[in-house]
Amino acid sequence: MPYTPHDTTAPRIALVGATGAVGETLIGLIEDRAFRYREIQLVASPRSQGRTLRVDGREHRVSAVDTFDFSTVDLAFFSAGSDVSRKWAPVAAAQGALVIDNTNAFRMDPDTPLVVPQVNADALATRPASGIVANPNCSTIPLVRLLRPIEDRWGLSKVVVSTYQAASGRGHSGTAELHEATRAALANPADPGPQAEFAPTLAFNVIPFIDELLDSGFTMEEQKMLQESRKILALRHLDVTTTCVRVPVRNGHSEAVWIECHDVVDRAELVAALCALPEVTVHDRDAPGAFPTPRTIAEANDVHVGRIRVSPHNPRGCWLWVVADNLRIGAALNALQIAEELVARGTL
Ligand SMILES: NC(=O)c1ccc[n+]([C@@H]2O[C@H](COP(=O)([O-])OP(=O)(O)OC[C@H]3O[C@@H](n4cnc5c(N)ncnc54)[C@H](OP(=O)(O)O)[C@@H]3O)[C@@H](O)[C@H]2O)c1
Repeated sequence: MPYTPHDTTAPRIALVGATGAVGETLIGLIEDRAFRYREIQLVASPRSQGRTLRVDGREHRVSAVDTFDFSTVDLAFFSAGSDVSRKWAPVAAAQGALVIDNTNAFRMDPDTPLVVPQVNADALATRPASGIVANPNCSTIPLVRLLRPIEDRWGLSKVVVSTYQAASGRGHSGTAELHEATRAALANPADPGPQAEFAPTLAFNVIPFIDELLDSGFTMEEQKMLQESRKILALRHLDVTTTCVRVPVRNGHSEAVWIECHDVVDRAELVAALCALPEVTVHDRDAPGAFPTPRTIAEANDVHVGRIRVSPHNPRGCWLWVVADNLRIGAALNALQIAEELVARGTL
């Protein structure tokens, strides 16, 4: 039973951003994985104050973050945008809560570990100086989970990624806008529909631009994948270069990944290494049509990899096609697995 009100070893938890796409996914995962908690508090903006949401069959009223007392919880998940995290996560930490932050606010802070439990769980051995553990970017998480064994066996020389990122990466409003713009375009092909989240329109379109533009000409989303991969894998000079693209998919990010290694890669050995990874489904070519897509992956809590090809022209290079649920693998599930690891290690 996840709700254990009399078990003092189970944490009291707060979910900031509980009404959002990541927050709702987190609630579902807490229920599915029977994450043990002594008390749960749901927090969002003043707009949602007083709304009720069900967790494990019990109704909970949503509080506004501005008046929330974080000294009443042991663990606070933040999924309410970078501005909210910048303002309130340090307050929560100062009031004694350990924060797991889903935003970009603290990922590159040297006092804040950036954690993918399947890759660098040891970073959770001690309580971080900042009181915050950062959850990486949604495209970085599946990537580093596959790069780790490749680095260990063949040595990474260069990684080139193109992402195909779903509308739900922009939360509830992103998904709603894709639906509305698609309806508008079906009725009148010249009508772009609403463009508050995606411009130009995402309906029947692809947009090679996510987040803000940097002086380098890369976008912030592309820079995150470089910097975060280096930090998580502890490879300061790893060469990762990315083009991040928004596509008219509802949920589930995909990535085409070209990897150059120091040593010659044997395909069978590569497939075996990927098959050996926990919570990874390998779709190998032996089964006809065996490749993952955002709409057809069955186990949403796994990273899916297919189209595994070693280049005949460059046997040190290989291609992977990767699909992962951005709301789960890329956000809520990784955050909950960090919490599970913190509880298991007694770091809370
Ligand atoms: N979507 C993804 O795939 C994904 C992946 C990785 C990381 N993230 C990060 O997770 C965060 C949430 O994303 P999302 O997709 O869940 O977005 P969302 O569906 O738009 O939800 C946003 C949540 O934040 C709350 N919020 C907004 N402004 C607030 C404020 N001023 N004070 C307190 N709460 C506020 C909203 O509460 P109200 O309902 O009251 O407005 C809602 O609960 C973002 O930082 C995003 O970058 C998202």
